[in-house]
Amino acid sequence: MAALPPASPSTPRGALLAPLSGVTDLHMRRIARRLGATATVSEMVAAEDLARGAEEARLRAEGEGVLPHVVQLAGCDPGWMAEGARLAEANGADVIDVNMGCPAKAVTGGQAGSALMRDLDHAARILAAVRGAVAVPVTVKMRLGWDHARLNAPDLARRAEALGYAAVTVHGRTRQQFYTGRADWAAIRAVVAAVGIPVVANGDVASLGDARACLAASGAAAVMVGRAAVGRPWLVGAIAAGLSGRAAPEPDAAARAELAAEHYAGLLALYGARMGVRHARKHLAAYADHAGGLAPAERARLVTTTDPDEALRLLRRAFEAPGAQAAPSASQAA
Ligand SMILES: Cc1cc2nc3c(=O)[nH]c(=O)nc-3n(C[C@H](O)[C@H](O)[C@H](O)COP(=O)(O)O)c2cc1C
Repeated sequence: MAALPPASPSTPRGALLAPLSGVTDLHMRRIARRLGATATVSEMVAAEDLARGAEEARLRAEGEGVLPHVVQLAGCDPGWMAEGARLAEANGADVIDVNMGCPAKAVTGGQAGSALMRDLDHAARILAAVRGAVAVPVTVKMRLGWDHARLNAPDLARRAEALGYAAVTVHGRTRQQFYTGRADWAAIRAVVAAVGIPVVANGDVASLGDARACLAASGAAAVMVGRAAVGRPWLVGAIAAGLSGRAAPEPDAAARAELAAEHYAGLLALYGARMGVRHARKHLAAYADHAGGLAPAERARLVTTTDPDEALRLLRRAFEAPGAQAAPSASQAA
């Protein structure tokens, strides 16, 4: 990504917020970036939907106040991918990231996402079309391969580099693993060895200790954090600070409550109250679970109420109650 440090062991190393469909909305990315994440990536946006003007795709690709604004595109048709990339760039994207890692059947069934790792010639046609469509840097996110018999991430990364890609991200699992087992950070080393561009290592990084271990095992330039940051978007910045040897300032419970409330208000404004309340539920549940301050009945109410004021009251209570946990430091956070 544009904000990535060069791939040199002597430079500070970064921590990026991963693209999470349905989760890493504009406001989560804004907060994560403001609190020190090296960069963030949008939810995957179906390139064809974006090019056809679908409202949901437009919202996913929103990036006002997020710098660099990285838009991730998914699709299997080079023409639509190029058109989506052009539109995203025209709407302010600083970087276009191509999704070649999504394992979901709805995506791979359409031969997009990680299914592209079964046909690297076709994958390369998509990479070339996107590269040729825009002037901004382009990156690609992949898995280790489709399955353990075909660990072809180094080949795909080499092709991306030859086409002028600026960086690659590798999730240390195969498509057939979905999210089972542990991410194999050491297996990412083969990609680092194959290319000269920065490699971002991803999968199961949930603390500063994990990030250090992941970088040591993989030799990557940066880590990317996904699920562990849901309900605590400040975690990515804390890890980035820790990796560069700075103290990792953690917001206290009151500050975290304010950030969660800001996120909630932003979602209501972005999606409108009716849709926003529903979209926000997974975030509310995650914030409350990490804060630890709600009784089971209150938590159930938090994720079912359609009244934004009630949700906000419960959200704040999660951080205030005697049971609320002290802010975990990035080194403790698991
Ligand atoms: C709910 C969910 C949605 C995801 N959406 C995307 C996506 O839109 N694009 C993508 O490249 N990866 C997506 N991923 C994969 C993550 O970016 C990441 O590679 C994976 O979760 C492993 O990292 P983690 O262990 O830090 O979560 C998604 C994962 C989850 C759990």
